[in-house]
Amino acid sequence: PTAKPVIVAIDGPSGTGKSSTSKAVAAQLGLSYLDTGAQYRAITWWMVDNGIDLADPVAIADVAGKPEIISGTDPSAPTITVDGVDVAGPIRTQEVTSKVSAVSAVPEVRARITELQRTLATGAEKGIVVEGRDIGTTVLPDADLKIFLTASAEARAARRSGELKGADVQATREALIKRDAADSSRKTSPLAKAGDAVEVDTTELTLAQVIECVVTLVEEKRAGK
Ligand code: DC
Repeated sequence: PTAKPVIVAIDGPSGTGKSSTSKAVAAQLGLSYLDTGAQYRAITWWMVDNGIDLADPVAIADVAGKPEIISGTDPSAPTITVDGVDVAGPIRTQEVTSKVSAVSAVPEVRARITELQRTLATGAEKGIVVEGRDIGTTVLPDADLKIFLTASAEARAARRSGELKGADVQATREALIKRDAADSSRKTSPLAKAGDAVEVDTTELTLAQVIECVVTLVEEKRAGK
C-alpha cells in the first residue's frame, strides 16, 4: 500500500540546524524537500542584481512578481534558479544575508513566495519537508506535523561561524540576533511557533539526534499515533 503524502513543516531561527535536519529527514523518508529561505534569498539576490532600492518597500513590491524562481526539491541535490540562472552560490553571500530580512518583510514578496511554496507542497507525490519561519503558522497551517527548532544564541552563533569558516563568533552572533529580531517582529507572518508545533531544543543535541527525533515524530504520525 502506498502511504498518503505527508507534509512536514519545520520552522525556527537560523543556526538551529533546520536545513541539515530537514534535508536528512526528507532523504531518509523518501520525501521532497523545500528550503523556503533560499527562495527569499533568491528574490533578494535578483533585487540587488537589478539595482532595486531596498530601502523602499514600494519599489520592492512593484517588482515582486517579476523574477521567475524555480526550486528543485530533491533533498540529495536541491537547486534554485532565478530566470534560469543557478543562484545556489550567490544567495549565500554576506550581502544577500544582510538584505534578505528587508525584502522578505514586504507583503507582496511574501504573497508571491507563499504561492510558490503551496504549489510545490501540494504537488509533492510522496510528501515534503518544508523548512522556514512561517510554514506551520501561515504557509501550510494544515501540515501533518509541525516542528519548531530552537537553540541558545551561543549555540546558534557557534554553528553559523563554523559554517562560515573562520568568521568571528561575536560578529556572527550579533548579525544573527539582529536578523532573528527583524524576522520575528515584522508585521506579515513573522517567525513564530504554531500552537500545535512540537518544540525541539537542539542546544545540547547532535545533528544525528535531532534527525532521529524528527524522523520518529514523522513515523509516529504516519502510524496514526
Ligand atoms: O533560512 P535562511 O537563513 O536561509 O532564511 C533567510 C531569510 O529569509 C530569513 O532571514 C528570513 C527569510 N525567511 C522568511 O521570511 N520566511 C521563511 N519561510 C523563510 C525565510
